[in-house]
Amino acid sequence: MTQAAYKHFATTDSQPSAQALFDKAASLHDDFGGSYCILPENQGQKPASEQNTGEILEQGFLPKSGEFYVMQFLDLSHLDEMLALQDRVYADLPDSEKNFIIPKTREFFEKHLTSGHPIIGVVCGDQIVAQSIIRTPSVTDPKTGMTDMPHLSDLPVDTLTIMQGVLCDPAHRGNKLMQGMVKQWLSWAGANGRSNAVAEIEVRNHHSWSVFIDEGLWLVSIGHDKSDGSNLYNAHQALPEDGRIKYKAIKKIGEEFTNVAKGESFTTCPTQDLQQQKALMDLGYACRGWDKSSKTMAFTKAQP
Ligand SMILES: CC(C)(COP(=O)(O)OP(=O)(O)OC[C@H]1O[C@@H](n2cnc3c(N)ncnc32)[C@H](O)[C@@H]1OP(=O)(O)O)[C@@H](O)C(=O)NCCC(=O)NCCS
Repeated sequence: MTQAAYKHFATTDSQPSAQALFDKAASLHDDFGGSYCILPENQGQKPASEQNTGEILEQGFLPKSGEFYVMQFLDLSHLDEMLALQDRVYADLPDSEKNFIIPKTREFFEKHLTSGHPIIGVVCGDQIVAQSIIRTPSVTDPKTGMTDMPHLSDLPVDTLTIMQGVLCDPAHRGNKLMQGMVKQWLSWAGANGRSNAVAEIEVRNHHSWSVFIDEGLWLVSIGHDKSDGSNLYNAHQALPEDGRIKYKAIKKIGEEFTNVAKGESFTTCPTQDLQQQKALMDLGYACRGWDKSSKTMAFTKAQP
């Protein structure tokens, strides 16, 4: 598949109709051979309490299968499909990786949505094929859902935005849907006044933490879940108003790392060596990239 040709679809309406975007998408699909995506201009501008209304964030065609998809905020009408996706993902995980997710109950999803916290989802045909829960805590509703991130308590609770429960249907992996949801999350959260983006990821789940790093979050500490013995990377980054984190992820140890980390105190560490990573993090280092081929992480002493 060739690189996506992105088309902006200008509109004077606060939200283009799904049909209008679909028609535009269908005509561009013919012109560009299916390799593009349409981004509405007005995205993520409303306060959290008004978000759970099915608002469309982007839509286009999946790079691998060519299926039409809509990325949108989910609402209570999607509950059955959200639970069905969670069941499919959980059933597909091998026993050794079941702890990559903490399955949520119907009551959890209901309470989350009715309390004004958003969920981003990707709809393909009549299925939800990916979803991400976003928590926007406040002084009156301070629960973060994070397991063991002590330095969170230093950050004012109403500056936090937390992504959790990220799921992608096994048949739809590798379409950059997680990456798309993380981008939309950051853009929405920045526009809605949140200045600290946070997530936690099981340390073996490189398909997940690598996406957060690619989008500019840094792994700042390692937490421990006493309930099942999991070790969890805590990812954090300060979020500018436009939601566009400027940090470039380091993907190759060598010249690229040296150039990106110029002026910063930096070092490397094997991906498997949690003890050394912990020691570095205790010294104020954060992981801001990894080299997949050599399984080496890049640490710098700069703080998010
Ligand atoms: C983690 C997860 C959400 C990623 O979803 P995704 O939409 O496939 O993600 P992206 O397409 O943006 O790519 C992310 C990574 O998945 C990899 N990937 C590509 N095709 C894949 C496939 N068929 N199966 C698994 N992973 C694949 C990509 O190569 C990329 O990894 P890399 O950065 O190491 O190269 C998905 O694998 C998943 O649902 N896993 C089980 C639940 C889970 O672990 N959730 C995360 C909790 S923090």
